[in-house]
Formats: sequence, C-alpha cells, structure tokens
Amino acid sequence: MCSIIGYLGLSQAAPIIVKGLKRMEYRGYDSVGVATFSNNQILVRKGVGKVIEVNKTVRLDELSGTVGIGHTRWATHGMVTDTNAHPHPSSSGEIAIVHNGIIENHEELKRELQQKGYTFKSQTDSEVIANLLQHHYDKTRDVKQSMIHTVADLKGDYAFVAVFEDGTLSAARLHEPLIIGIGKQGYFISSDVLGFVEHTDEVIYLDNREFVIINTVGIQIFDFDANPVQHQITKVSKEFADVYKGEYAHFTLKEISEQPTTIVNAGNNTKLELDLATDFIRHAKTLYITGSGTSYNAALVAKFLFSKYAKIKIEPIISSEAHFSPDIFEQQSILIALSQSGESADVLEAVNIAKKSGAKIISIVNIMTSSLAHLSSISIGLGCGPEIGVAATKSFTAQLAILYKIVDKICQGALGLDLAKVSEAVKKSLSDDSKIQEVAKKLKDVSDIYVLGRGIHYPIASESSLKLKELTYIHAEGLPGGELKHGPLALMDSNTYVIMLNPNDSTYSDTLTSAREIKARGAKVIGISDKPSDVYDHWIEIPQMSESMYPLVEIIPIQLLAYYAAVEKDTDPDYPRNLAKSVTVK
Ligand code: F6R
Repeated sequence: MCSIIGYLGLSQAAPIIVKGLKRMEYRGYDSVGVATFSNNQILVRKGVGKVIEVNKTVRLDELSGTVGIGHTRWATHGMVTDTNAHPHPSSSGEIAIVHNGIIENHEELKRELQQKGYTFKSQTDSEVIANLLQHHYDKTRDVKQSMIHTVADLKGDYAFVAVFEDGTLSAARLHEPLIIGIGKQGYFISSDVLGFVEHTDEVIYLDNREFVIINTVGIQIFDFDANPVQHQITKVSKEFADVYKGEYAHFTLKEISEQPTTIVNAGNNTKLELDLATDFIRHAKTLYITGSGTSYNAALVAKFLFSKYAKIKIEPIISSEAHFSPDIFEQQSILIALSQSGESADVLEAVNIAKKSGAKIISIVNIMTSSLAHLSSISIGLGCGPEIGVAATKSFTAQLAILYKIVDKICQGALGLDLAKVSEAVKKSLSDDSKIQEVAKKLKDVSDIYVLGRGIHYPIASESSLKLKELTYIHAEGLPGGELKHGPLALMDSNTYVIMLNPNDSTYSDTLTSAREIKARGAKVIGISDKPSDVYDHWIEIPQMSESMYPLVEIIPIQLLAYYAAVEKDTDPDYPRNLAKSVTVK
C-alpha cells in the first residue's frame, strides 16, 4: 500500500527519490518522507500530505547526499501524523528505514527492544524494523549479519529499505513487491518500476525471502538463509514510461479517454495464453472467479456471460471472503483471478487457498511481473498500460473485454463480440460529454445516489456506485432493479437521485416501470439509455448495441459523471481520500 524507494549513485539522491515518490503516490498518499546519507550522518525530512505539498514546505528534495530512501504512506498502524510518517530512524539515528506491509509481531519485538534500551517515537509497526536492525548492527557492526538476524525475527508481510551509517543501502522482501533498477548513474530499489523508469529499464525482480545489499562496490543478493542468489537482469516494457497525463487535467480522465483503444487491445499481448486459458476453462470440472472491488464487479459480469452464452457455471467469490470458506474450492477446479495490480493481498490469499485445494490459477492481470502472475499457471495481460488514477477505469473494461473474448471463443461467436463496434460506441460517448458535465453539477450537493440495473446491467450498477463513492464521496448504492420494491423504495424522496441503466434490451420495460415507481416518490431519475423517455429528469444517451455488449458502453458515462462530479466538488479524482491503488494489506 505504501511506496518505498532507495537510491545509491552518482547524483544527488533526494530529487530523484522525490520524483519517484510522486510517480508511486497512487500506492498511498497520506504522508511522505525522505532520508539521505550525507557527511557521515542520516538526515530525515517528512510530513503529512501529498508529495508536492510536503516538498513545498520542508524541501525534501534539497537534502544533500547521493544515497537515500523515501516513502509515501497509507496508514495502517497509527494516525496520519508527521511522527508516524516514514522514514523511521533507529533510536541512535545510525540506521533509517522505510517499510511497506505489516509487521505482525511488532508489539512483542518492541517490548523486547525497549527492555534492551531502544526507544520509540511513533505508533507504527515499522519503527521496530529500524531498532531491530540497530540491535543486530550494534552486536555485529555488519550489514549482512544485521539483515539476516532481522528478517529471521520479523513476522508478517513486508518490504523495507534501510540506509546505514556507512552509506550502505539494504532491502528485504517478503510478500510485498521490491524491484531493483540498474542504471548507468546508480542503483534503485523500489516498490514499482514507476519509481525509477525514467532512469533505467534494466531491472531485477527480487523474489520473496530475499534481501539485497547495495554499496559503492555493487550489489549482492542473498536469500533469508544467507545463501548468495544470482538473478537475470530483465528489460521492462517501455509502456511504463508512459506515465504522464499530457494535456489531461487528471490521470483519471486520461485513462477513461484511452478506453476506445485499450478495450480493443486487451489481451493482445498474451494471445497464446488467452487461447490456452480458454481451452482449460472449456474443460474445467468446476470454475470459480475471484477479485476485489472493481475486479469483483467484472467477475459478476463474467458469471452472467458464462452462463448465458457459454452455458458454463462459474462461481464468483469475493476475494476477501475466501478465507472464511476455505473448503469451497473443489479438486481439479480452475480459479480465474482478476486483478489490475496483481498485488491485492485479498486476491493473493484467495489464490493461495485455491492452490492448496489443488485448483489451477488463471489470472487476468495488468502487471505481468506481479505476485499474482507468479502464482498463476497462466496469466493473461490486460495490456492497458499503467493505471495511475486510484479508481479503476480502463482496467475494468480491459478485464471485461478479455472475459468477453474467452466466452466468445467458447460459444463460437454466439456472443456476437464486435470490439471494434464497441470501441466506436465508446469513442462516441466520450466525444460529447457536455450533458454529463451538466448532470455532474446537479450531483454536487446530493447526499445519496442509487444506481439500478437488471440482468447483466446489475454488475455495472454495482461498479457505478463504487466509482461514485470513490470519486465524489457521495453515498451510492447499486441495486438489481427488481429489488427496489422489497425495501429501498422507502428511501426515495425529493433529495434522492437514481441512475437507471436502461438500454433498449430485454430489461428495458421492467427497468422503466421501476423508474416510474421512483419518480412517483419524488426522486430524480437519470436515464442511461439509447431510448429517450419522459420519465427521465436527465437523459444521457448511449449508442445502440446488441444486448450483451451494453456493459462495456454504459459504464463510460458513469465513469465520466463520477469524474466530473468530483471536479465539481473539488476533490482530487486521481487520489481519493483514504484509498490506495494497490491494497497489499488484508
Ligand atoms: C475501485 C478500485 C478498487 C480495486 C480493488 C482491487 O475503483 O480501484 O476497488 O478494484 O482494490 O484491486 P486490483 O484489481 O488491483 O486487485
């Protein structure tokens, strides 16, 4: 959830680190800090807020030194305060660390270290790493030995980078991502290649239970049992360099606007894997599909497509719930895991549970080097490029496009998949968003929005409400249209807005009836449809499609509506409060 970065090289470290942190801010953004090694001492600056804000006040980028570490935080242990922000120095100040993950035994370790005289300032679990390293360093004065003993003592999932009083960097990884960048001017170690991609595309992916020592002599990698490890240097895809928002006001708007292309391209970078996965799915004894948040909403669309068109039953499982029904996965089953990041802890847990039951894993994932891709038998790439906006937009439609491709192959075209037509329809919806901007203004002071859809449109109603919640902070709820009269109708009054996903298909007349019932209670109705009706207070037109294709098209105006309503409310659409792009904690 947090982002960590370290640099050791020929250039001043702090500006490089600050730029890297800015790029990785999507991982967490409640506070930020940098520590550098300069003139035989470790200097630390940090504060609450986004990278740009904190940098303005405390000038993180002006710290001297050619070795340093940095962090953006998404609080798990302890409030969002300057003291709890990373880096955390050890009590003697000889070592400072940045950490991503959770140290499960931090209370016990803290007690033991306090008894030995080490002192703590923050409420975080992370500070224990600094003092634990210091404790082992006090005994050995050796970085490697300190790392070996420290990782042996720590329990939990973590990645951390430490800077030592002799200017050495060291970093360890257990179930949290950590990537080494090998540049001409220096070494990088980071949670994400985005942290250093403008400096080098040559990387080493550290495996779990490995640590690295970086100093002016070079780098050495070891496993947690102290054995030296050799790794291949890999070149990362150039697409990761495309992380600028260009003419767009926000990444979210840029990513929404990329969908005419990303929908068509989805999965094209892994065509063989897509064919292979389709074959496996076709012959699976039992089939499950899992994901969190938006990815779970894509799983719900899959359930509908697989049963209606491929005549295959597939059971969607909310990833965070898998733990509570561990016997769910039958032998010889297949689990399709959906994840943009490939690092969501809940998804990885569901996958591990399924693997223990002997299930095969097929992942549909954007980051092909992620933990999820490593755990899978087959990985299909979303291929939609980096998604920086915290709210998932283009990754959702890319997930759908791949699921559509699989179903279309299985049912031999009965789905009528025509992604070129979908792409044209998305382009059309994007080309004139003036009506959407007008409606967004009306939502500014609304406290509750309901989104209704029937059949295949219900998962899109659910995804719509998630987008509205995240971007606008307005309470929003997605409902299957028919459920209205079983309770939620009691909530309808003149202060309520209801969005009806009502394309002209088999769900149309039932949904229109619901719209009339809502209107009769005084609520305002926004119709998303290719057909006008007098019942809509606001009609947002979508192009006419075949029934199965509407989900890919009707989500677009909602993404735009949520985006523009956020702009109206003056919230930051790219970085909604309290959230993080990659949820690597449970
Ligand atoms: C919603 C959103 C989250 C993610 C969820 C899973 O806009 O971004 O709900 O969809 O955290 O993330 P991934 O797909 O990376 O596993």
